Amino acid sequence: MKTKAAILWEVNTPWSVEEIELDPPKPGEVLVKIAASGMCHSDEHLMTGDLPFALPIIGGHEGAGVVQEVGEGVSWLAPGDHVVFGFIPSCGRCPSCSTGHSNLCDLGALMGLGRQIDGTARHHAKGTDLGLMCMLGTFAHHTVVNEASCIKIDKDVPLDRACLLGCGVVTGWGSAVYAAEVKPGDTVAVVGVGGIGANAIQGAKLAGAKRVIAIDPVEFKREKAMEFGATHTFSSMEEALPGIQELTWGTMANKVIMTMGVGSGEVIGSAMALAAKRGRVVVTNIHPALEYSASMSLLDLTLMEKQLVGSLFGSGNPRADIPKLIGLYREGQLDLDGLVTTEYTLDGVNDGYDAMRAGTNLRGVMKYD
Ligand SMILES: NC(=O)c1ccc[n+]([C@@H]2O[C@H](COP(=O)([O-])OP(=O)(O)OC[C@H]3O[C@@H](n4cnc5c(N)ncnc54)[C@H](O)[C@@H]3O)[C@@H](O)[C@H]2O)c1
Ligand SMILES: [Zn+2]
Ligand SMILES: [Zn+2]
Repeated sequence: MKTKAAILWEVNTPWSVEEIELDPPKPGEVLVKIAASGMCHSDEHLMTGDLPFALPIIGGHEGAGVVQEVGEGVSWLAPGDHVVFGFIPSCGRCPSCSTGHSNLCDLGALMGLGRQIDGTARHHAKGTDLGLMCMLGTFAHHTVVNEASCIKIDKDVPLDRACLLGCGVVTGWGSAVYAAEVKPGDTVAVVGVGGIGANAIQGAKLAGAKRVIAIDPVEFKREKAMEFGATHTFSSMEEALPGIQELTWGTMANKVIMTMGVGSGEVIGSAMALAAKRGRVVVTNIHPALEYSASMSLLDLTLMEKQLVGSLFGSGNPRADIPKLIGLYREGQLDLDGLVTTEYTLDGVNDGYDAMRAGTNLRGVMKYD
């Protein structure tokens, strides 16, 4: 069939929205009509080359839609089912999946190639096979993905909000709840208030943090942070250092969650300086693939027993966490609507990323139809 998709042909060029050829699903695969896609910063890393995935590639990994057709052997999904895509597939059988860490499923190792699990492509344009961001390619009206990437959801959940659960909400919320293990009474600092940071704030608040300190240079982001549950804001880590010292009588933040647009090894020391004794710094933001060094006081690391940990997809189990977060949304304990600043069509993909660079969107969402 023919459909429309936003393709990145070369780094540092805009997304090109064009017609593509899509093959039918093979065994274990599913054809999905995508309803909406969030615009996460990770796709921007494709464009800048910070994430060196094979090109050309269809962008987008934060999507939800309706199943149109299932390939041979797919027994638990049928046409008409509503699905959110997990940006990391989960097979349910590998050591990570079977020990409750499906965010680290072994199938994730195939993501850099952007092909189907069997190594071939279903998406083509101009006589070339196209890769898929996170094996999904949600910047498109339709896609074919493996069943391992699909999480079935109830049909009453609006798909233009559910899409955010495919990456940003689960990643941010889980960074606070699972990776940072925020406890009642904690002081938590969140560095960078985009789609991920706003959800780290929501997670920290629900986990019982006494103070949630949001740090972002953009005033609009600091205002949004307060709406999502932050108690204090600062415009930089340098400004936050004396501020948190004063607020905590020098004991500092129990948890620091890094959700800047682009990670930087040079600021790890500043993040560690915000952390308390036995405090934990969670690195959720993506650093450029070629960055190999970070600067920090290693004496401080030992003498204060500080921890520095990474977190992928919220360090949880999306098949369990996505339905759980939908439950919190239904009860009004998780805000998905307030995350969406601007809605676009697929043709607006470059406008959405311009807005991200300008700091005027918390999350842009593309709605198709
Ligand atoms: N680990 C994971 O599983 C995972 C999943 C999704 C996204 N990510 C990464 O998380 C990061 C955030 O993504 P996003 O979509 O929320 O991005 P975003 O661009 O929407 O938000 C980033 C925010 O960081 C702020 N910022 C930039 N420099 C800063 C600094 N020095 N101090 C404080 N704030 C600063 C920006 O003003 C912006 O508000 C990206 O690196 C993205 O690739 C990681
Ligand atoms: Zn993402
Ligand atoms: Zn697995």
